[in-house]
Parts: sequence; structure tokens; C-alpha cells
Amino acid sequence: MTLVTTSKNELSKRLRGFSKLTKEQKLNYIVQNFEKPEEISDFIKSFWHEDIELQKKIDEFSENTISNFYLPFGIIPDVKINGQNYHVPMVIEESSVVAAAAKSANFWYDRGGFKAEVINTLKVGQVHFSFQGPKERLTDLFEKHKEELLERTQFLSENMKKRGGGLRSIKLKHFDHLEPHYHQIHAEFETCDAMGANYINSVLEHMAKVWEEILASCAPVVDYQIVMSILSNYTPHCVVKASVECSIDQLDDICEDMTGLEFAKKFSQAVRIAEIDTFRATTHNKGIMNGIDAVVLATGNDFRAVEACAHAYAAKEGIYKSLSHCEIRDQKFHFSIEIPLALGTVGGLTSLHPLVSFSLDLLGRPDAKELMMIVASTGLAQNFGAIRSLVTTGIQKGHMKMHLINILNSLSANQVEVEKSKEYFSDKVVSFQAVREYINQLRSYQ
Ligand code: MEV
Repeated sequence: MTLVTTSKNELSKRLRGFSKLTKEQKLNYIVQNFEKPEEISDFIKSFWHEDIELQKKIDEFSENTISNFYLPFGIIPDVKINGQNYHVPMVIEESSVVAAAAKSANFWYDRGGFKAEVINTLKVGQVHFSFQGPKERLTDLFEKHKEELLERTQFLSENMKKRGGGLRSIKLKHFDHLEPHYHQIHAEFETCDAMGANYINSVLEHMAKVWEEILASCAPVVDYQIVMSILSNYTPHCVVKASVECSIDQLDDICEDMTGLEFAKKFSQAVRIAEIDTFRATTHNKGIMNGIDAVVLATGNDFRAVEACAHAYAAKEGIYKSLSHCEIRDQKFHFSIEIPLALGTVGGLTSLHPLVSFSLDLLGRPDAKELMMIVASTGLAQNFGAIRSLVTTGIQKGHMKMHLINILNSLSANQVEVEKSKEYFSDKVVSFQAVREYINQLRSYQ
């Protein structure tokens, strides 16, 4: 699949109006830059769905689409959460993630499973503005017109209110000590089972207009400007907690050369390290997000929002720390996570993407709170699996065993070569070079 060099390359010419082309035209425009455009076009089209209606729907999730990008859709069977059993869907490209989560879920299934609770579900939005008058005057204006701001945005909350949600509160915040004349209206929302981004942004934009009118009519005249109105992806009051616990002796069989207590101590020290060292905390939390993002993606939620928020929350005390915590107390091993998760189970992709719909069916059509508990428990399972490997066998053993398959596929190994390689590398270090050499060796005997 060779791209024609830049001098001959049509890509070097700027095309205006790419978005106005039909899908077929867009594809043709792109493939003409390759040596064999027709072959490349067929290759790209081979990923199109045969159901034309469905393909159109998928194309319309985004813009300038020329094809679909496949990722594996896997399942962690039997994740017990609050006594209920779930088969949790995961969309992820990294080998070992699903296997590690499944191993943890299985381990905890026999030890009471995961306990989870939603602590709060409030979401945040802000109207950022500048006001060049005295702060006291601004405060008076806001207090005087607070009810009006709430009342005049009410009509946008009618549907949300019917479901028990809506705009919960607004307050004025001052930042003029950091940025000249800068202040904001900080609003809190309950969006029930919707992620609520469109609802929150509509309310904020309307509130900004009302606020602008109020500022414009105030006397004496003051310079002001609405800078922007947008939800915040930092939702420290939309938080869920998940935990596992067992007696220390229930850990005795976890590793051949460690007692349960030795394992518990080493494990909790590993978590402690992620509480004090940002380098380790980042990798530790990345492992948690392996599990979280995979379920968030499978259920059609916004994994970038979840990621951004999780890392901001991890730094809420001023230094970036582990999102999970471990302690040995009363002869028991306790392991928990507290994480903000702004998730939805209605709206967005939830009814549009057939696999998202399937994921939600598989989970028993959870509401947003239940999904928060499922996702947090999966993150904790993932973290347990990673730390367990790190403090016992090391991560590479399981990881490279899985990665071996990817290497073999990239070398186009046949079934016999795959089986022989699996056996050969069962007690050896897997690297791309070592596998290639072994496969070459096998092939040279043929
Ligand atoms: C790899 O994707 C994730 C880990 O590095 C997480 C960790 O170190 O805790 C294994």
C-alpha cells in the first residue's frame, strides 16, 4: 500500500470543499494519492457495512467519513456487583486488558464481589465573563437578578424536570485576582440518565444572553463581555465508589511463593507508591482507565470527557495521585476506588449505535447510576489485575503471551506455526525479533 511521493502527490494541492464531496468522491480524492488507487479503494470499502441504512447512520456520527475503523468488542463474564451478576462489554485494542479484568472479576466473584455506591451525580457548567466595574457592584447585581436568571432559563429544563433533573443552583465566582475583570457564573445540574452536554450547554448559552441583557441595562454603564458558556468536564460531585474486601487468608492461594499477608502487604505498598509518586500514579491510573474507557466506549459514552475528569480528580489535592486506595485493617484486605464518572444511558449514541444498544441490553438496560457502578467496578478489577501481576509474576509474562498472537499475525503465521510458537515461547521471553527468528527457522525446514 504505497503512497505516491509528495511531488506527484495530489495531497500537496489544497482542495477546498472536501466536506461537500460525496463519500465516494472523498474516497476517490484520497486514494488517487496511492500507487494503486483502485486496490486501495476496494480495501477501504471492504470495511463498509453491507446494510446501507446502517452504514449511512454510522457515517453521520461524524464528518468526512470514508470508512469504518474496527476495534475488538469483548466481554468480561460474571462481574458480581452489589450481589448482581453482569457480563460487561469492553471495546479495546490492547491485548491482556480483557483477560486481566476477567481474571480479577472471577477472583472476586468467590469473595463477595464488588460493592459500589453512587455518592453524587451533579454536573457543572459555567458562563465566563468580564466585568470592568467594582466587584461589590457585580455581586449586588447578581444577587438582585439571580431569580430572574433561573426563571428565564426554566423553559429549557421542562423535560429534564419531568425526569427529576434540572438546573440545581447558580453562584457567582470571582477570579479577577488572577485575570483582570474575569468572573464566572458557576451552575450545577442534575441530568438524570443523560450525559446532558447539549442540555447544559443550551441552558448556559441562554443564561449568558439573559445575563448580558442585565449587564447592558445596568446604570451607571459598565464595560462587560461574555467570553464563553460551556459545561465543565470536571465533575467532582458526580462520583461513584467501588470496593472489594476479603479476609487476609482468602488471599493465601493467590500466588505460590507468597502468603496472603505477604501479598496484601506488597500489594498495598504498590498502591501507596502510586499515592506518593506522580510517575507511578500516572501509569497506575492509566491501568484503571484501560478498564474504564473500554466500557465507556462500549456503552457509547464520551471517553475523552471521562479521561479528562478522572485525571483532574486524581490531582484534586494539588499533586497527582492514585485513584485507588488499599489498606489492611482488622485482618482484612480492603481495596477501593473513588472516581467521577459523568455517564449517560439515554440520548447520544445509546439508541443510534447498534452495538451500544446491545451493550446496554447485555447490562440489563442500567440507568446512569448503575452504569457508573459497573464502570467503576471494572476499573477497580482492572487495577487489581495489573497490581496483582506487577507484585507477583511481573506484567510481561501475561502481556507478552497475549502479544505473541499479534506478532504471529503480523508475520502471517499459519495455524501450525501459531501452535508451535505458543509451546516454544511458553517458558521464554517474547520479543518481535525472537518470534521472527523462530518463525524463519520453522519456515526454513519446510
Ligand atoms: C498497561 O496498559 C497498564 C499497566 O502499566 C498498569 C499498571 O502499571 O498499573 C500494567
